[in-house]
Amino acid sequence: MKFLATLLTLAASASAIDLYLHTDNNCGGSNALCCNGINPNTCCGTTANGSPYQSVAVRGIQQGWNIQCRGYDNGQCNRLQTISGNNGGNFICNRSNGFRYSGVGYNFIGRKRAIDSTLKPECSKKRLDNFCLPE
Ligand SMILES: *[C@@H]1O[C@H](CO)[C@@H](O)[C@H](O)[C@H]1NC(C)=O
Repeated sequence: MKFLATLLTLAASASAIDLYLHTDNNCGGSNALCCNGINPNTCCGTTANGSPYQSVAVRGIQQGWNIQCRGYDNGQCNRLQTISGNNGGNFICNRSNGFRYSGVGYNFIGRKRAIDSTLKPECSKKRLDNFCLPE
């Protein structure tokens, strides 16, 4: 049982990727929308018209993970706008340079594989909006 508990703890902490929608163009500013500890292929977003989000970020990427961040507009994760890789880093930020993001998601990609823009949008499941936990 102790082993199982340890395993569950590891599994929980290993999936602690946080997705953010930021009100400025550089993954900062106040009033970010975020989804903490979100699973891959899940949309973190808002249906609000005229959303204020100009950049999307992924934080808490573990070493050795190779993921893609996908940024969307047109409400929740309806229209794919940007795809970004982490290139071995623990953080991804992408800017809209104009449009407003309404949703963000991520997915794992194979090691050493180029970003594939033909992948289907991953947002099969949607998650309710919530607000940032203090860091
Ligand atoms: C942001 O998204 C665009 C469009 O998908 C992509 O070409 C660019 O490389 C991304 N920027 C970063 C920093 O990943």
